[in-house]
Amino acid sequence: MIDKEREETLVLIKPDALKNSLTGYVLSQLSEYHSGLRFAGTKIVKVSKMLADEHYAEHRGKIFFPSLIEYIMGRLHYPDAPWKHRVIALVFQGPDAVRKIRDLAGPTNPHIAREEKPGCIRSMGTVVPLKDSEGNDIGERMDNLIHASATNEEAEREIKLWFAPNDIPPAMRAYPVERCEEYYYLKDNKLSIKHEPGSICFLAPGNIVWKSDLDALQVLLQGKPSTCTLEAVVAKYLMNEE
Ligand code: RTP
Ligand code: MG
Repeated sequence: MIDKEREETLVLIKPDALKNSLTGYVLSQLSEYHSGLRFAGTKIVKVSKMLADEHYAEHRGKIFFPSLIEYIMGRLHYPDAPWKHRVIALVFQGPDAVRKIRDLAGPTNPHIAREEKPGCIRSMGTVVPLKDSEGNDIGERMDNLIHASATNEEAEREIKLWFAPNDIPPAMRAYPVERCEEYYYLKDNKLSIKHEPGSICFLAPGNIVWKSDLDALQVLLQGKPSTCTLEAVVAKYLMNEE
């Protein structure tokens, strides 16, 4: 159980907010003046398929999932400008962080947000119909400007997915860390502690890592299933890699 002062939540400023130049507006809505929370981390991320898939894992298999992945990767709002594919990821910290940011964000669906909570951040979003190859309506995509963690458990999973410990000042980290003592490599989506031609080193001795990542790597090296997938461990250490 983390202490109240160090409760944290993840916010993503999504591609539609960037496209519509709403970043400054969103940040001022979430500022300490309105939320009573502190910034603990921030980064600009080109979202890989692997990261998008892990972030929205709970929605795999739903009709809107493929468009949700395209949306968060920036492909829908910048189809001809891949260099603009990015989101802004933020960690906010303070008492009731999850609830406060969810309140400022408002309901998931922008139409409902406008009806129920005019002025909330998501009331400025849009809903886009989804069609199949024959043009029939199959659902909706909700372009709702920001993501906000829904529970403390989700916040921990998401912050550890998007941020490495060193992206957050030591005194602001809410979860245990350890110093890595091995080299860890990735090749063809397989984990190894030995270098081979073409493998990428994602952790080295001396690196500060989430303790839960090291625990997961030990389990995965034994060939056992881990609650935290290899992709979720690797994502933050290889973030913004070519
Ligand atoms: P988020 O995770 O982005 O903060 O949003 P949320 O908790 O309010 O909603 P969630 O159920 O987690 O959905 C994640 C994102 O998927 C899209 N969505 N579309 N068509 C639909 O029924 C539907 N439901 C969800 C939205 O973009 C939502 O933000
Ligand atoms: Mg959610």
